[in-house]
Amino acid sequence: MSDQEQQSGHGHGHGHGHGSSGPQPESEEELQALFEQPSWEERYASKPAVWSGNPNPQLVAEVTGVAPGRALDIGSGEGADVIWLAQQGWRVTGLDFSRVALERAAAHAEEAGVAAATEWRHADLRTWSPGEERWDLVTSQFMHQPHGGMVGIVRTLAEAVAPGGTLLVVGHHPGDVDTGLRWSIGQALFTPDDLLPALHADAWDVVTEVRERTVPGPDGDPVVVRDSVLVARAR
Ligand SMILES: C[S@@+](CC[C@H](N)C(=O)[O-])C[C@H]1O[C@@H](n2cnc3c(N)ncnc32)[C@H](O)[C@@H]1O
Repeated sequence: MSDQEQQSGHGHGHGHGHGSSGPQPESEEELQALFEQPSWEERYASKPAVWSGNPNPQLVAEVTGVAPGRALDIGSGEGADVIWLAQQGWRVTGLDFSRVALERAAAHAEEAGVAAATEWRHADLRTWSPGEERWDLVTSQFMHQPHGGMVGIVRTLAEAVAPGGTLLVVGHHPGDVDTGLRWSIGQALFTPDDLLPALHADAWDVVTEVRERTVPGPDGDPVVVRDSVLVARAR
């Protein structure tokens, strides 16, 4: 999975990426700092690849076989999902606030021969607005924010969906804090239903699900983790 951190000797990072070997915030200030651009820049700059390079499974499950259009991937990281979408015929915008990640992602798209179908934007989702632009698919894979902050982000993403388009938001379920993989960011995990206040009930057909999958645990043994999945189709 794209969200699964490359093995680096000990531990497997997940979610926001501070896995069992990552820093545990000891104060509110430290927690907030983990979600700021410098922390992510440092993280990406610390190794040539943070993520696996494979597309995320819930994206593949939801989009395979769907007629391609224009897609926006937010928190696009090293670009695996953008590249996969482009390979399926989509024209894709990747958006992230890490310049290191964006440069790396653009280089990967070039290597994969899909650069012409991709574009990259540097922005902070907490202040970004789509303006007049709309996308047929807006996808957010494992972007998290502390203390319920994803609701505001999802509200913004909903504005970016074209009429009849789809919003797909995937994150780590709070139940996963006891897996030993996601303990450091319990304050940022969400259930799919936590996101519902972001969407006007009469404007969307919404499905929320918790989907299990098996990944290597902190000791290398398989561990079942849960993805919070929200699929909303604009009426
Ligand atoms: C857990 S990573 C997921 C990357 C990719 N979606 C994947 O699954 O491999 C979260 C990404 O969101 C980006 N990000 C975090 N906060 C952001 C913000 N406020 N605005 C824009 N990007 C942000 C980070 O730089 C990082 O690349």
